[in-house]
Amino acid sequence: MNNAQAREAVAKGLALGYRLIDTAALYGNETGVGEAIAASPVPRDEIFITTKLRGAQHGYDETLAGFEESRNRLGVDYIDLYLIHWPLPGRGRYLDTWRAFIELRERSLVRSIGVSNFTPAQIDHLVTETGRWPVVNQIELHPDFSQAKLRAWHTEHRIVTQAWSPLGAGTDILHHPKILDMAAAHRRSPAQIVLRWHLQLGNVPIPKSADPGRMAQNLNVFTFALSDEDMAALSALDRGNRLGADPDHHIEL
Ligand code: A2P
Repeated sequence: MNNAQAREAVAKGLALGYRLIDTAALYGNETGVGEAIAASPVPRDEIFITTKLRGAQHGYDETLAGFEESRNRLGVDYIDLYLIHWPLPGRGRYLDTWRAFIELRERSLVRSIGVSNFTPAQIDHLVTETGRWPVVNQIELHPDFSQAKLRAWHTEHRIVTQAWSPLGAGTDILHHPKILDMAAAHRRSPAQIVLRWHLQLGNVPIPKSADPGRMAQNLNVFTFALSDEDMAALSALDRGNRLGADPDHHIEL
């Protein structure tokens, strides 16, 4: 979403009852998000703002500068959750970046610090060098790529799993016959079935929608439950189908 679309979607989302807003410097829409938050009657302390440091700003000083730019664009005093967007192992600077994140946390400019698209080995490296764990790892996760091993590792280390592209980012997973059958049986939409699967697994899904009807639908997932059989059937859909980049590979962002 561009700034104008983000402003409109965040305004609608907050009015519908959404409280977690996920953005990133890379998305180029922090200004729009900030404008909607400033204009909303919802108090700032009831809103949970996540943003992410872009790859081009890895490094200690670059991170502090990148954070200040994000904070100014969002027009807020503090960020609730700040994430390293990608580890970019080829650049080899995510440890310096993490040290700057710890500094931002200590200065209370950020309430929580975490990572996105990190592997256990990369997280281990952060912890070994600094003693500080990320509270969140935001990763690609949907029924076609359910990340069972990484989720178990997060649980073991008390890291919250946030799921990006939780609905499969517009691919055909929402049309899978199993999901359509379950949706019919529960009188819910396929997206609601998939979001319920995430919640019952303990994930924090962050579905993206610009459509007010679908935004309302995606929020209405707290008054029904999937059975153990449903959960197992959904988890069996995994074909290891990664849609985005592999965090172990170097990508330019
Ligand atoms: P739209 O913005 O037009 O609603 P993900 O969050 O997995 O990346 O998926 C986002 C995609 O899924 C977007 O293309 C979005 O389109 C679409 N989407 C979001 N909510 C729903 C829904 N409830 N049913 C069908 N498609 C949805």
